[in-house]
Amino acid sequence: MKFCLLILTILAVVVNGNTKANVLQFENLGYSGTYNPVLELKNIDSDSCTCVLGDPVAFNGTAAPLNEQLSVHFRGPLILHKFAAYYSPNFITNNDNSDSWNRIAYYDDSQGTANNVTFLTNAGANSSCLGNGLSYAGSDGISKASSATILGENTLIHSNEEFVIFSNLSCGSSSLQGDCGVYRPNIPAFKGYDGTVKMFLFEFEMPQENNGNEDIINYNSPAIWLLNAQIPRTSQYSMNSNCSCWASGCGEFDIFEIMNNTHSTELLTTIHDYQGTDNINTGIIIPGYIERNFNSVMKGGVIFDNSGNAVVFMSNSTTFNNTITAATANGWISKAGNVVNDALSSVSYVPPKSSSKSKGDAGQIDKSFMSQITLGIFSLIFWLT
Ligand SMILES: *[C@@H]1O[C@H](CO)[C@@H](O)[C@H](O)[C@H]1NC(C)=O
Ligand SMILES: *[C@@H]1O[C@H](CO)[C@@H](O)[C@H](O)[C@H]1NC(C)=O
Ligand SMILES: *[C@@H]1O[C@H](CO)[C@@H](O)[C@H](O)[C@H]1NC(C)=O
Ligand SMILES: *[C@@H]1O[C@H](CO)[C@@H](O)[C@H](O)[C@H]1NC(C)=O
Ligand SMILES: *[C@@H]1O[C@H](CO)[C@@H](O)[C@H](O)[C@H]1NC(C)=O
Ligand SMILES: *[C@@H]1O[C@H](CO)[C@@H](O)[C@H](O)[C@H]1NC(C)=O
Ligand SMILES: *[C@@H]1O[C@H](CO)[C@@H](O)[C@H](O)[C@H]1NC(C)=O
Ligand SMILES: *[C@@H]1O[C@H](CO)[C@@H](O)[C@H](O)[C@H]1NC(C)=O
Repeated sequence: MKFCLLILTILAVVVNGNTKANVLQFENLGYSGTYNPVLELKNIDSDSCTCVLGDPVAFNGTAAPLNEQLSVHFRGPLILHKFAAYYSPNFITNNDNSDSWNRIAYYDDSQGTANNVTFLTNAGANSSCLGNGLSYAGSDGISKASSATILGENTLIHSNEEFVIFSNLSCGSSSLQGDCGVYRPNIPAFKGYDGTVKMFLFEFEMPQENNGNEDIINYNSPAIWLLNAQIPRTSQYSMNSNCSCWASGCGEFDIFEIMNNTHSTELLTTIHDYQGTDNINTGIIIPGYIERNFNSVMKGGVIFDNSGNAVVFMSNSTTFNNTITAATANGWISKAGNVVNDALSSVSYVPPKSSSKSKGDAGQIDKSFMSQITLGIFSLIFWLT
């Protein structure tokens, strides 16, 4: 049995992302580690703009550091029809007697409802070290608005265009001790969705890009992903790794991500932190993909349960009701189809405070075979001991 699993693990590693699946699952998510929060943003409107990181902050436990506030990010070509966030006191995958889910945030484009949802986008002021800051998004998702605006029905954002969803809870004042840490001045600063046990559901389309401009970055490569909400509140796309906590490992989870136009139908799932890897740029990619359907509405999401499972699934059975029983959610997963599972190592890497990595981005750069090899080695060690 152990031997078969070993062979299966090696096979899964060798095929490296070519297994088609409906469920992509990490086990053993969460570790004890540290990251460096931003302490200071200096001279942000001048060419001498710099950022200073603070002392390491320790985290531990199930899903850590992804148990912290998360913001929800969308990149085109994409139409978002529905979004919902749920909490549960103690949901456990495969256990129908565990606790049900309660909806705490909901967006429905056809109804024009946005409960506990704030749409922001990177259309704020530019800065030489921080890039463009957050602003409210207009109903098109990408223009700057002067106040919170609900995304319009059937809004299509194009390649490399992005918007972000936060909760509707405003951050307290910007400080290391504050409820949102240090954040960029003059942005609409909202909290993300926090907690260990949470679920995000999406109803969306990722149509083939039709604007013909293949030279633009992330052409025809849509994505839905989660960031530690501190990252966009300081700087999502900085050339200076001291301007956000990303490089030191405060956390990113790519739920459904097209990496490039040559693999334009393969939605991958990736974690970027230091659990089982020292390469945060590549992160750990689950060796399988969920198919992107160009011409139909897709439904699915990600469940972070109370046992350290992070389960990404695509299922037409997905519903957005106020409460979802454990049996219903487990049914979406168990009936979805093929599962690719990836047990994360408990071994973690401690990054140096000052990292040479240059860019805290959505996780699309410097993808290599390395993390799969690392994963293989950890799996080997696991099965041989
Ligand atoms: C684990 O993290 C919690 C905060 O989430 C903290 O209160 C606790 O002291 C930490 N425990 C250890 C052993 O680091
Ligand atoms: C946040 O959203 C909830 C749920 O829709 C609503 O009850 C509450 O009034 C909103 N709070 C603010 C500050 O907008
Ligand atoms: C923001 O400023 C930087 C240089 O400070 C520049 O390279 C970049 O093109 C600017 N971005 C926009 C959108 O204007
Ligand atoms: C809105 O989301 C925040 C952040 O996750 C949560 O703490 C709060 O309870 C939610 N509000 C409602 C009304 O559910
Ligand atoms: C980041 O901060 C460290 C000091 O903690 C400094 O040595 C390093 O040069 C800074 N990096 C950049 C890109 O400014
Ligand atoms: C495109 O993405 C796939 C994963 O979907 C990856 O295996 C491949 O190396 C990438 N190609 C390029 C040119 O980056
Ligand atoms: C889900 O529904 C869409 C139509 O909305 C259909 O094209 C697709 O094949 C369905 N997927 C599955 C797995 O049944
Ligand atoms: C969701 O609510 C609808 C009624 O609005 C109901 O018909 C359906 O059975 C519910 N689904 C689940 C999974 O609870």
